[in-house]
Amino acid sequence: MQNVRIFADKDMPISEIGDDLYSSFIEHLGRSVYEGIYEPDHPSADENGFRGDVLALVKELGFTKIRYPGGNFVSGYNWKNGIGPKENRPIKLDLAWKTTETNEFGTDEFMKWCRLAGVEPMMAVNLGSGSPMEAAELVEYCNHAGDTSLTRERKRNGGEHPYGVKMWCLGNEMDSEGQIGHLSAQAYADKAKEAAKLMRYVDGSLKLVCCGSYCTSSPTYPEWDRVVLETLYDDVDYLSLHQYFWPQGNDLDYYASSVCMDEYIRTMAGVCDFVRAKKRSKKQMMLSFDEWNIWNIPKSGEANWSRAPHILEDSYTLQDAVVFSSLMSTLVNHADRVKCACLAQAVNVIAPIATQKGGKAIRQTTFYPYALFSAYARGTAYRVVIGAPDLNSEAHGAFPCVTASVAERAGEVTVFVTCFSEKETRTEIELRSFGELKCVGHIAMEGDLGARNTFSFPETVRPKEKELCRKEGGKFILQTKGVSFHVLRFAREK
Ligand code: AHR
Repeated sequence: MQNVRIFADKDMPISEIGDDLYSSFIEHLGRSVYEGIYEPDHPSADENGFRGDVLALVKELGFTKIRYPGGNFVSGYNWKNGIGPKENRPIKLDLAWKTTETNEFGTDEFMKWCRLAGVEPMMAVNLGSGSPMEAAELVEYCNHAGDTSLTRERKRNGGEHPYGVKMWCLGNEMDSEGQIGHLSAQAYADKAKEAAKLMRYVDGSLKLVCCGSYCTSSPTYPEWDRVVLETLYDDVDYLSLHQYFWPQGNDLDYYASSVCMDEYIRTMAGVCDFVRAKKRSKKQMMLSFDEWNIWNIPKSGEANWSRAPHILEDSYTLQDAVVFSSLMSTLVNHADRVKCACLAQAVNVIAPIATQKGGKAIRQTTFYPYALFSAYARGTAYRVVIGAPDLNSEAHGAFPCVTASVAERAGEVTVFVTCFSEKETRTEIELRSFGELKCVGHIAMEGDLGARNTFSFPETVRPKEKELCRKEGGKFILQTKGVSFHVLRFAREK
């Protein structure tokens, strides 16, 4: 038996948890759009061709915003190909993913789908093959209320009222050499500055996100971020972060994923603050972690210019879901700087929802921790102090065997605990400053770490209600038996 202590104090808040922390991403990639959210022949499809079964699952996840249309795809995308009568839309090669893009689904379909899903659109503009003027025209098409040829076209395409898209990404991963139209940091910053200027000429209220490094192993990380911010600091509201995590050959390295995410966020906040100090600026740059997830499949697979190929269709285990929960705690623990986070992606492509063409839509294991955080990690995040034995990762060094986060809303406190120890563990949770609390809920994900949900057995892995934590000397006691994830809810005694 080993002992762990978790402590949080009402006088040590981190920040309000922004609703945008629960955002996601849909890219024209594989079967994310086609056979994912859009499949006109599916039995559950509505008159727009939107799958009703997928919409229902998307709603369960409680996303706030969804980023669209890419990803790498956006850097070669001409948005004008995706509007107007479907029969007139060109069929194009998508060079980013080597697929054939029919353009049947485009901006207007996405806006309509977002309305039905109850999410806000978050658009990315093409700063690869595209120009700042084309980006400004997309803003005009989406947001302008006046009478222009483009807004007439939007109305003809079903968008009677402006779509009012608030948040816009200035390109995608432009530091990556494989990105269409890849640029050096300074060249990107200059192009993005011009795009920001023109886009804001059209709509001064936009919130803009500039590209950060595409991953921490990028050769120009984190210098790219410094150079870009030195040019764009006054023009943008967020620096974009992207990071994926995968089992690196052994469990302990994998379990240290949240340590890597934590270090990445701290580094990027540090780069922002360095530039802020250099500029003597009063503004604090926020972070948009607009691509994050567990990504097990090393290669994208062969698309061979096919339509809606089965690429990047990761199948997640319980172990992945547990690691995933620690990443979500890490995002909550940085709620003061990470104001937006997009789970990449929502459907089929490294996603919590998997679909069959003409068939089922199922919840992957990672669906559940996401839904639980989205439901309960709301309100204010509190600093958590953890006293726990260390585990040792060859790649990342020593790290505590427990990751946790604490949120409070309307007097209800929720503690999220991820335990990476295989040993029996007794965790004492000290929350006395929040008042006289009692445990009102305990949901856990534990068991066979290799288990996964499949179309034949879609409910193999799901959270289970567990016995409530008992109180001992004013502290709550959680007993765990192995690698697992726990959501503990506490409410006032009276
Ligand atoms: O989400 C899949 C891909 O990962 C995106 O297209 C790209 O931005 C990232 O590298």
